[in-house]
Amino acid sequence: MTRIVFSFLALGLAFSAFAVDLTDAQRAEIEQRIKPVGESCMLGDNSCGGSAAVASSGPRSGEEVYNAACMACHSTGAAGAPKYGDATAWAERIAKGKDVLHDSGVNGLAGTGMIAKGGCMNCSDEEVMAAVDYMIDGSQ
Ligand code: HEC
Repeated sequence: MTRIVFSFLALGLAFSAFAVDLTDAQRAEIEQRIKPVGESCMLGDNSCGGSAAVASSGPRSGEEVYNAACMACHSTGAAGAPKYGDATAWAERIAKGKDVLHDSGVNGLAGTGMIAKGGCMNCSDEEVMAAVDYMIDGSQ
């Protein structure tokens, strides 16, 4: 019983605290305090400190990018994608040279299911190239 009374009291206090008129200075201070939480930033967006955040976390490894952006097609062979680990499927592609394959990874292959960056628009060119290297290394 005492507990219930107490929580009603606490509620009342909380409400009255909200009812207090804030001065402009107090309001500004609160806005400043909650700002980092309310501000969201898309990966790769340079306008709100996003690039700094991305840079500080460093580029993702080829394996990480593969798992996040390439595996969906390249582990199953969806749409005719050469499967990771399938040396036969990769041999003729590897014969074209790494530069060509890097280019296919970054820009895609027109007219095929291989879209630019495998659709990973927040992946940097370097990250996609690392994912290509990861696939090549694991498929020969
Ligand atoms: C939506 C499905 C899909 C996704 C996602 C995808 N790929 Fe592909 N990829 C394909 C298909 C299909 C091909 C085969 C295209 C062809 O030659 O017909 C292919 C081929 C390739 C090739 C060989 C290109 C060549 O020149 O022979 C590379 C390299 C490649 N993908 C890299 C990647 C990387 C790196 C990722 C992730 C960042 C990725 N792919 C994500 C479907 C996909």
